[in-house]
Amino acid sequence: MTQTFTSKDNIPDHQEFLQDVIAGLSAPQKTLPYKYFYDEKGSQLFDQICELEEYYLTRTEQHILQERGAEMGEWIGPHALLFEPGAGSSVKVETLFPHLHTPAAYVPVDISREHLLASTERLQKRFPHIPIVPVVADYSSPFSTPSLEQTPNRIVVFYPGSTIGNFPPEEAVSFLKRLSNFVGPGGGLLIGFDVKKDKARLEAAYNDKKGVTAAFHMNLLERINRELRANIELTQFAHHAPFNEDKSRIEMHLVSRCPQKVSIAGRTFSFEEGETIFTECSYKHTPEKLAAIAEKAGFVRDVFWTDQEELFGVMALSIPNE
Ligand code: AVJ
Repeated sequence: MTQTFTSKDNIPDHQEFLQDVIAGLSAPQKTLPYKYFYDEKGSQLFDQICELEEYYLTRTEQHILQERGAEMGEWIGPHALLFEPGAGSSVKVETLFPHLHTPAAYVPVDISREHLLASTERLQKRFPHIPIVPVVADYSSPFSTPSLEQTPNRIVVFYPGSTIGNFPPEEAVSFLKRLSNFVGPGGGLLIGFDVKKDKARLEAAYNDKKGVTAAFHMNLLERINRELRANIELTQFAHHAPFNEDKSRIEMHLVSRCPQKVSIAGRTFSFEEGETIFTECSYKHTPEKLAAIAEKAGFVRDVFWTDQEELFGVMALSIPNE
């Protein structure tokens, strides 16, 4: 049996979900936090998104990790502690594992104990020589980490999946500052991000023909119905995800198709026709912009890996030694 380390309780519960929904729908521009997309059904739908023809992100990143994994292993160096916030099922890091040089440990952090346990067991079987220390926590809030047997040479954060794209640039800087404090001088960051490209290609990735992204998005409303005593009429909302060129981001909205009222846990919220709930931003950066954000957080750019079409990027950055 794997031992999981559970951080002091920082995992959002039912009460917090309700509060976030009420607060979000009470604002002039209605919002709902994208972190609630990922219940069981939402996670399954997201896995389906990753398989879509139009959604090149996951496949391209995986390709880069496969092709350049050895170089990444060299860059990470010997006796490193590899730390992965939001590791999920740790599929991507597995590609790097054969290229790690006597790693001190791999520390996956995830909110889902089930995911962590399953992936730790699978990985530990395949790589018995790599110490795996899973931590159950919501990494977006402060959390505590277990002490390790071996003192690592350096700490490297692996942050794939273009998750950084959810943060507006200012917040990305604050988040990366937290990471830079965590890894300390000599530490590193290996980060995957979707590279800015033409509007048509980006919009196709978030408005797929099969409607999987729409279903993933609508699941948030379904989840509110299921968990918060709500009566949202799903057919009365539509998925809308345009690319905002000025802000260089995909903006995801749920659009009310008609004037309507919905009831959630005894409260009523009114919508005008065309009024939207703004749920998610997915920023698209040039490599220069991503490096500039990380530099504001104290990192320096070491290596940039990309694919033939420069669709996706993986960048290695370090905190200089004092
Ligand atoms: C998980 C944030 C990388 O922005 O591409 C995919 C989430 N939303 N389709 C992204 C998402 C709609 C995804 N990230």
